[in-house]
Amino acid sequence: MTTGLFISFEGIDGAGKSSHIEGLAQAFRDQGRVVTLTREPGGTPLAEKLRALMLHDAMDPLTEALIAFAARRDHLVQVIEPALARGEVVISDRFTDATFAYQGGGRGFDWETLQILEKIVLTWQNGSQAHAYGLLQPDLILWFDVPAATAAVRLSGVRAPDKFEAQSAEFFEQVNGGYARRAAENPYRFVRIDAAQPVENVRQQVITAIRSRGWL
Ligand code: TYD
Repeated sequence: MTTGLFISFEGIDGAGKSSHIEGLAQAFRDQGRVVTLTREPGGTPLAEKLRALMLHDAMDPLTEALIAFAARRDHLVQVIEPALARGEVVISDRFTDATFAYQGGGRGFDWETLQILEKIVLTWQNGSQAHAYGLLQPDLILWFDVPAATAAVRLSGVRAPDKFEAQSAEFFEQVNGGYARRAAENPYRFVRIDAAQPVENVRQQVITAIRSRGWL
């Protein structure tokens, strides 16, 4: 049976990941793989309800982090792990690194507390080994890195901004700082995509990252 593959896309609002997510999904489908496309916060009926609260209601950063992780747990149990167990490719628009970037970097919430929550929420029993527990992390994180000013231009006028999209350039530079810290802590899982480049160049960077791992 084919092994499941878990890839997440990350980056600040306006980094331009959406069209590349669809493109990568199609590239896998062209090779006969079954792809589960999903997103965070969200991906299940319950997690989508939590998403609506998170994106539109004011709350303190710990509450925000707890909601993100609660939604993530449901997503993991209901969608991600079962799809991986079936040998599918799971592509998620954001995952845990977004909590470190937005709540940790952007809001300045305590990094170590987020690491504790991560350990609790992502712990998963591995297959038939009754006592082997590990964290269910993506095999690869594609981080679309773009300066906050560039992202702001791309976002402007697209639609009514949600709670996060309405944040300042300074907030998004801090979010970028959070992603950079996570990338430095997880160098083998993270690939930095220079998302300020023209779209075709970005597409090539994404495909190269996947091909160099022998997945396409
Ligand atoms: P986003 O993924 O950008 O969706 P859309 O393209 O539909 O706007 O929106 C999700 C927002 O939630 C984004 O601003 C980042 C934020 N977020 C967090 O603050 N913490 C998290 O843990 C996650 C997953 C997202």
